[in-house]
Amino acid sequence: PDSAQGPEPTRGSADAREPELFTWEFASDPYPAYAWLRENDPVRKQRLPSGVEAWLVTRYTDAKQALADQRLSKNPAHHDEPAHAKSKTGIPGERSANLMTHLLNIDPPDHTRLRRLVSKAFTPRRVAEFAPRVQELTDQLIDRFVAEGSADLIHEFAFPLPIYAICDLLGVPREDQDDFRDWAGMMIRHGGGPRGGVARSVKKMRGYLAELIHRKRLEPGDDLISGLIKASDHGEHLTENEAAAMAFILLFAGFETTVNLIGNGLYALLTHPEQRARLEQALAAGDTGLLETGVEELLRYDGPVELATWRFATEPLRIGGQDIAAGDPVLVVLAAADRDPARFAEPDTLDLSRRDNQHLGYGHGIHYCLGAPLARLEGQTALATLLRRLPDLQLAAEPDDLRWRGGLIMRGLRTLPVKFTTA
Ligand code: HEM
Repeated sequence: PDSAQGPEPTRGSADAREPELFTWEFASDPYPAYAWLRENDPVRKQRLPSGVEAWLVTRYTDAKQALADQRLSKNPAHHDEPAHAKSKTGIPGERSANLMTHLLNIDPPDHTRLRRLVSKAFTPRRVAEFAPRVQELTDQLIDRFVAEGSADLIHEFAFPLPIYAICDLLGVPREDQDDFRDWAGMMIRHGGGPRGGVARSVKKMRGYLAELIHRKRLEPGDDLISGLIKASDHGEHLTENEAAAMAFILLFAGFETTVNLIGNGLYALLTHPEQRARLEQALAAGDTGLLETGVEELLRYDGPVELATWRFATEPLRIGGQDIAAGDPVLVVLAAADRDPARFAEPDTLDLSRRDNQHLGYGHGIHYCLGAPLARLEGQTALATLLRRLPDLQLAAEPDDLRWRGGLIMRGLRTLPVKFTTA
């Protein structure tokens, strides 16, 4: 159900009941709980399902400040609980596969150096030139189910599109891409837990990437991996291990996020018929302006990254008037900040034409999403093409029956059953 139609969050009144976090109900609609936290406990120490205690930051101003605060490190070694000083990105198996030296685990000056190198290869121009291929992939996926009259748009569409896209961009040969799809599927299904299958998948991917990097060094192409190998800054290059970790984080950061941008975005459109009709009319008239503002709004309204990845205080500091001790983990709740009424007018309303929409869905500061141009391209292409090719697309399940993944960092649907008239 649309939380816009839910009860108004109680404004700090005495009978405002404290919500339970991390339940099934919370996973399907966390927004009322986040409204409560913003109002009543905006920087709060919370025990997470894993047992780790972390500060949850839910107001927009505090969230934005925390994301840019260099005293909050991304390096898990700063965590005060050595037992937990391991992967905090939610990427399963990254530690055992020696993939920890990537952008989301490091601070300046290493972060600055690696980000500058990758930015030379992963340019907006490379993404713009990739647009026809994204369109082709999108159409091919729709072709596979268009005659059926029904589909699960997560498994048949939102899931494969980003993995094929990023594989293509990186330079993974087409014949190997289904292996990637399977490894990625294993990681998304069991994300977070040290299950044998996940560890095996990460190891296989790691081994494959090392070999691919080696091959591209000998025979460069015009793909992103070759670009990464070639990129140099003041004579500095990526080491083999840094290149593998970079390829891996590009795959990982660009995969489940985009699945959920498409999944959550479609779900929001299918449950807001008047907004969907506006978008369809604009697209039919050849106007892509509403598609562009609309994808940003879908990110704000129900974005894929519910909580930013982990940060750790390197020294005592204050956030929103709350004292944070050195070593404390801090989780910035992007989904809460992006519905803060102090920043957004009518935050629980989906308005595809929303202006002044400086949402935090891609983060903020030095770790701002490197893949935002690619995510926008994929999101816009996927949504516009589906609406155009399947004009009477509708949900084939009650919204209450849909299940959301209960992960900590990401927010997304397990399945999105739809029906439509075949052409
Ligand atoms: C970082 C969101 C798609 C690559 C981030 C961060 C967010 C984010 C919130 C910052 C995390 C933090 O500060 O803790 C998203 C969303 C996406 C998306 C919502 C889709 C809608 C992509 C894609 C790629 C990508 C397609 C690449 C192909 C990255 C990388 C970083 C990052 C490499 C780390 C940047 C750094 O630490 O300097 N993303 N992302 N993302 N994203 Fe994305």
